[in-house]
Amino acid sequence: MPEPILSIEGLDAHYGDFQALYGLSMQVARGEVAAVIGANGAGKTTLMRSVSGLIRNQPQAIRFRGQPIGGLRADQVAALGIALVPEGRLLFPSLSVEENLIIGGQMGRPGPWNLPRLYDLFPILRERRHVPATALSGGQQQMVAIGRALMSNPDLLMMDEISLGLAPVVIKSIYEALPGIVGEGLTAIVVEQDIAKALSVSSRVTCLQEGRVSLSGASAQVTRDAISRAYFGV
Ligand SMILES: Nc1ncnc2c1ncn2[C@@H]1O[C@H](COP(=O)(O)OP(=O)(O)OP(=O)(O)O)[C@@H](O)[C@H]1O
Ligand SMILES: [Mg+2]
Repeated sequence: MPEPILSIEGLDAHYGDFQALYGLSMQVARGEVAAVIGANGAGKTTLMRSVSGLIRNQPQAIRFRGQPIGGLRADQVAALGIALVPEGRLLFPSLSVEENLIIGGQMGRPGPWNLPRLYDLFPILRERRHVPATALSGGQQQMVAIGRALMSNPDLLMMDEISLGLAPVVIKSIYEALPGIVGEGLTAIVVEQDIAKALSVSSRVTCLQEGRVSLSGASAQVTRDAISRAYFGV
């Protein structure tokens, strides 16, 4: 693999006495789309929260562009260029679409993303920019959540289950935006419950099972059987 932008080595994570990740290792190459799959409770969100600084870890367990970031706070991680589209979107309900997007840009990192570019990516958001974010459909809210993350001009964009609860046609339209996003030089990690979707958009896939990596490989080469075993442990 070319020089990884994100390198995770021996990552543990705990919620109180409960251990959710066990010595997890994973590399993500610059410019690729990496997929993370796994059953409910496997630890996907915990992994995203660890990389984002929402869960603090050993500094050396997570490196971004070679720099240890495992011990940094979420705001420090964001300032380095990592953005998370969180599970459940977590939009500000009292704010309009545009206000939610502007908040994402407050860090002020330079880069290609701004309101006009975002509205070109998701034209429906331009039409609905003054509407309260929570008045939108689920798919449109997901576009706002992705847009808010892009507004920080990240180098690494992590998306946690962006298709959850959305209709297939909506999922398709959201994923159609991905090449235009990654084309800007970004690296992306998608957490997906839809395995076929995960494999089709990514170059590498990592499967988690009970807090451990159960499979890691090139998305084009993993077999259905290997995935079933890694996913369900059968
Ligand atoms: N705040 C928390 N406190 C205690 N345990 C938690 C907490 N959040 C998650 N867990 C536990 O940690 C484990 C991993 O959860 P996590 O949310 O990372 O899984 P996930 O793969 O994202 O699952 P899902 O597909 O349901 O989103 C699970 O056993 C879960 O019950
Ligand atoms: Mg989750």
